[in-house]
Amino acid sequence: MHEFKYRNNQLYCENVLVGKLAKTFGTPLYVYSYHTLIDHYLKLKSAFSEINPLICYSVKANSNLSILKALIAQGAGLDIVSGGELFRAQKAACPPQRIVYASVGKTDKEISSAIARGILFFNVESLAELKNINRIAKGLNKITRVAIRINPDVEAKTHKYISTGKITNKFGIDLASAYKILLLRVKFKHLNICGLHIHIGSQITQSAPFVEAIKKVADFIQRLKNNGLALEYLNIGGGLGIIYDREDPQTAEIYANEIIPLLKKTGLKIIMEPGRFILGNAGILVVKVLYIKHTPKKKFIIVDGGMNDLIRPALYNAYHQIVPLSRRVGELEKVDVVGPICESGDFLAKERLMAKVKEGDYLAVMSAGAYGFSMSSNYNSRLRAAEVMVAKNKALVIRKRESAQDLVRNEVMVNNFTKR
Ligand code: LLP
Repeated sequence: MHEFKYRNNQLYCENVLVGKLAKTFGTPLYVYSYHTLIDHYLKLKSAFSEINPLICYSVKANSNLSILKALIAQGAGLDIVSGGELFRAQKAACPPQRIVYASVGKTDKEISSAIARGILFFNVESLAELKNINRIAKGLNKITRVAIRINPDVEAKTHKYISTGKITNKFGIDLASAYKILLLRVKFKHLNICGLHIHIGSQITQSAPFVEAIKKVADFIQRLKNNGLALEYLNIGGGLGIIYDREDPQTAEIYANEIIPLLKKTGLKIIMEPGRFILGNAGILVVKVLYIKHTPKKKFIIVDGGMNDLIRPALYNAYHQIVPLSRRVGELEKVDVVGPICESGDFLAKERLMAKVKEGDYLAVMSAGAYGFSMSSNYNSRLRAAEVMVAKNKALVIRKRESAQDLVRNEVMVNNFTKR
């Protein structure tokens, strides 16, 4: 499942000792296993080989250029959500015909650069956006492809912050409104409305919500067909859950077996947008224990990585397994693993039973490959971590650690203030 394993009680990433990486590159440090992420991509590809979908990796999960390059080289496309991600896609030389673009708030500038780039299509989230893309395409004298993002009103059974397919969420267009739009599609002279898109949420561990959403959309596609409205693409989004703790998520095969028959019936070309499934278990965050602090009520393990490096525990109360790089047997104790940030929400684990650690030890925060670095920040003026990709015996720096100079690079210091 992933290539972070102990040998002689030392944690390895593929054939490289993680402790050595921590010493060479410093901490906090993100470490990714190339073979794990490619394996996950190929697992999905082979589970769906019968219908040969275009797998557009969701850039937001981890947008490092080398990771994009690695996936593009396997034939993956990209799912983007901003002009910044379009820029990354371009830098990584992703063929534009493999790029799909979602987001409820695309700006005029973002829309025109994506049209100029010739992306496969926009996933459109509102009537207002549809009109705007039509207007911009007209100005550019182009006809651009779009898919309507449907809000299927399905409960994804995941954290409410990452559930996107309920009618109360800001995403997509309800079926009745989408139908009206599609009937009027000739009105949008500069749009080729060629598909539908759904994405009901993230870290979904059972296939039932996916099946429910796809069934709704498949019925809708049939209804459109009956009215002479033919489409070309169905984009089923991402959302596949992974194991962080004791989850028992559907495998790629189970997911494929459940939905392929439904997808085949639509007769459309299928696109999918996985992020976490590919990267989640393919990365770890390595931190160093700075201090052990005893208070009357608690024991805190204070480490050098915090919520600015990995915000998932603070934001979603998400669970990440934490293990020592050097494993030793010993008694377990209940601790809070916390970072150096000046907020009580800055924790990586709470009330966690862990083998005793001491100052100077290194710990690995597991399953941090997706929504780890990409959600990191400079809060507390902390330098963002370095990232290393390991392939077999080789470790390559794919992002240098930030310097203090990077922190202030875009700031303009006004320095002619006088004393009042
Ligand atoms: N497609 C669309 C339109 C999306 O909005 C997303 C994720 C994906 C695909 C990829 O979803 P995935 O396969 O990774 O579940 N920061 C949160 C996750 C937010 C997901 C946002 N959208 C977390 O750390 O759990």
